[in-house]
Amino acid sequence: MAALAQYNGQRKPGEREKPLAKARPIYVLNGPNLNLLGLREPEIYGRTRLSDIEAAVVARAATHKLDVTFRQSNHEGMLVDWIQEARNEASGLILNAGAFTHTSVAIHDALRALDRPVIEVHLSNPYARESFRHHSYVSPIATGVICGLKEQGYLLAVDALAKLLKDANA
Ligand code: DQA
Repeated sequence: MAALAQYNGQRKPGEREKPLAKARPIYVLNGPNLNLLGLREPEIYGRTRLSDIEAAVVARAATHKLDVTFRQSNHEGMLVDWIQEARNEASGLILNAGAFTHTSVAIHDALRALDRPVIEVHLSNPYARESFRHHSYVSPIATGVICGLKEQGYLLAVDALAKLLKDANA
């Protein structure tokens, strides 16, 4: 009883505040050919380079007090490895899987094992393009999908993820 009575959830005089555990970063993963942004079909994907998108994403995430791990790979297995890594290391995921969006059961399965909010992003609007881009293996597990807004889509995804994480921790 004495021990119980002593504990009221507040710090005792002289007791130091415990440091808060550092929040996990959001992962922003980019698939094949997105390293060529700005050079490749600019009429479809815009003239902004991926490095500029990274800088804008980091700045926007900072306004939400979120850190960012931003990566690109042309290799399906690398993306699968990073999605698996995100299970322990990330608070949420923004994913532009590029062409793997339309082909990769492996990425779909990795995402199914990720218990984190996922925002699917595309610079272009795949639904206004060739029919082979109309199916996404990412969308069924995505919390939300943003497409057709070029690089602005990444920033909207950061805002959306920040709100989802805030609401989940509220
Ligand atoms: C893309 C759309 C995909 O269909 C395409 O294969 C890409 C980029 C986009 O961001 O618009 O590589 O994901």
